[in-house]
Amino acid sequence: MRLGDKTQGLKKTDLEGVRLAGDRLQDYVEFWERSARTDAIRAIADATALLALVPPGAVVLEIGCGIGRVLQHLGAGAREVHGVDISAEMVDRGARRLAHLPNVHFHHGNGYDLGDFEAGHFDLVFSTFVFQHMPKTIAFNYMTEAARVLKPSGVFRLQVPNLLHEQHFAAFRHFTQPYFVENPYPMNFYSPPELVRMLEAAGFGVTDLDDYMVVVARKGADTPAALLASGLADQERARYRARISELEAEVTRMRRVYDLPVVQAALKARRRLLRRPP
Ligand SMILES: C[S@@+](CC[C@H](N)C(=O)[O-])C[C@H]1O[C@@H](n2cnc3c(N)ncnc32)[C@H](O)[C@@H]1O
Repeated sequence: MRLGDKTQGLKKTDLEGVRLAGDRLQDYVEFWERSARTDAIRAIADATALLALVPPGAVVLEIGCGIGRVLQHLGAGAREVHGVDISAEMVDRGARRLAHLPNVHFHHGNGYDLGDFEAGHFDLVFSTFVFQHMPKTIAFNYMTEAARVLKPSGVFRLQVPNLLHEQHFAAFRHFTQPYFVENPYPMNFYSPPELVRMLEAAGFGVTDLDDYMVVVARKGADTPAALLASGLADQERARYRARISELEAEVTRMRRVYDLPVVQAALKARRRLLRRPP
């Protein structure tokens, strides 16, 4: 496609009509304030699956909660439910909509950190259809913040589109259309290795990662080798290096055993025996 080409096949939703004016945090705030007046939220997450990740009576936080579509289903199963969002308008609407749920609380965040929340407070932090809409640097900052506010072994569940998945790649291609040069839309795609790498660096072990990049991570846990093997070049190199050191240590140990006088004597005797005719 060339810039002058007419956009083909663009499914113009109201949300895609909203333009990101620049790359400052304030531009993102304005984008989501305007989005709140359109078809802002089409996502419904599986609240039951979320609650299954934690014991009953858990304390839960959603990053990018919008008007609380998911939060409203968590109120009954959790002790405390919090949502934080960059858009004051989403937060106001959510708080009004869910005013009848006393354990559901909305917070207007700064779009960058979880400064409203104390360290080690939550059993579960989650985010759905949000991290793809922010710069990857901010997404990573939220990951480190999620690790900070989670209790030891707390669970972090998030979802981002997978660049290596056929359907998600089609969505990626959709955003290459010339229309989006004139109307920039904040949309980032991830590959599994980079997502695992960011979560590990933030202090998580990834315990589950499906093709749709719904990822479950646990604070302080180890990522199983099978997940690490999904293309993490330097981690794999580190594993090979460790294995090579183990093998070298084994060779040194065997050489020392070989050189022992008693072993040398036994080998000599064996050679003599083998030479002797039956
Ligand atoms: C597509 S909506 C999804 C809302 C909700 N998670 C759901 O599944 O129904 C994206 C939400 O993320 C919020 N958001 C975008 N960037 C954010 C950021 N940097 N920090 C916090 N919230 C953000 C938007 O204001 C919006 O409410």
